[in-house]
Amino acid sequence: LKLISTSNYEELSQEAAEEIISRIKRNPSLNLGLATGSTPTGLYQELIRDHKQNQTSYKDINTFNLDEYIGIPKKDHNSYHYFMCEHLFEHIDIPLDQTHIPDGTAKDLDKECRRYEQFIEEHGGIDLQILGIGQNGHIGFNEPGTPFDSRTHIINLAESTRKANSRFFESLEDVPKQAITMGIASIMDSKEIFLLVSGTSKAEALARLMNGDVSEHFPASILQNHRNVTIFADKEATALL
Ligand code: F6R
Repeated sequence: LKLISTSNYEELSQEAAEEIISRIKRNPSLNLGLATGSTPTGLYQELIRDHKQNQTSYKDINTFNLDEYIGIPKKDHNSYHYFMCEHLFEHIDIPLDQTHIPDGTAKDLDKECRRYEQFIEEHGGIDLQILGIGQNGHIGFNEPGTPFDSRTHIINLAESTRKANSRFFESLEDVPKQAITMGIASIMDSKEIFLLVSGTSKAEALARLMNGDVSEHFPASILQNHRNVTIFADKEATALL
C-alpha cells in the first residue's frame, strides 16, 4: 500500500486529480471506476476545473460506478445516477452512454447484478478504481462480513451506514435499506486502485486498514493483498498511524 499524505482535503483532491489526469493522458480510453459520497467531490471539482482549463477529454472514457441504492428512481436527487451527473458528468465531455451505474430500479435485481458484472468484464475490466471507505471499513457498499470472493450483489445496508448517509435525506426512514454494489472480488480485479480518506472520523478505519489483520470483518483490509493501491489521506485521517 502506497500512502500519499497531504496537509488538507484540498491538497488530497488536487493530488488525486493530477494522478488521474496523467492516467487519462496515457490512456485516453481508460476504464475509470467511480465512487459517490462526500470524499471524492473535491476530486471531481478538480477534474472539472482541469477539463475547463486544459481541455483534458473524456470522450473515449468509460466510467463504472461502484454502487446504487435500490428503489430510488434515477431522477431522484438522492440516487447515485443524479449525484454523478450533478458532481461530474454534466461538467465534462463524457458521452452519457459511456457512464455506467448499476440500475437499482431494475425489475429483476439479481439479473441486473449479473449483467453489470459481465458488462464490466466485456469492457476489459476497470483500469483505475476510485474508492472511499466507511467508518466500519466498507468499500463500495460491502459491509463487514461480505465474502472476499463476492461479485456484484444486493446488500442490506448496515444501520451505521444508513445513519451516516441520512445526512443527504430528509429523515433516516427515507434512507434505502438495500443497495447494489460491486463485490470485493470485482473491486480487487481493478488494475489500479486509489483510496481517498479524509477527516478525523476516518482515522481509526485507516489505521486498521493499514496495520490490522486481513479479515472479512473489516472489508477494506483486503486492499493489503492488491498489488497497486495508492491511498490519498489528509492529516486528520492519518492521525492514528
Ligand atoms: C460510495 C461508496 C462508499 C463511500 C463510503 C464513504 O459510492 O461506495 O463506500 O465511499 O461510504 O463515504 P463518504 O465519502 O461520504 O464518507
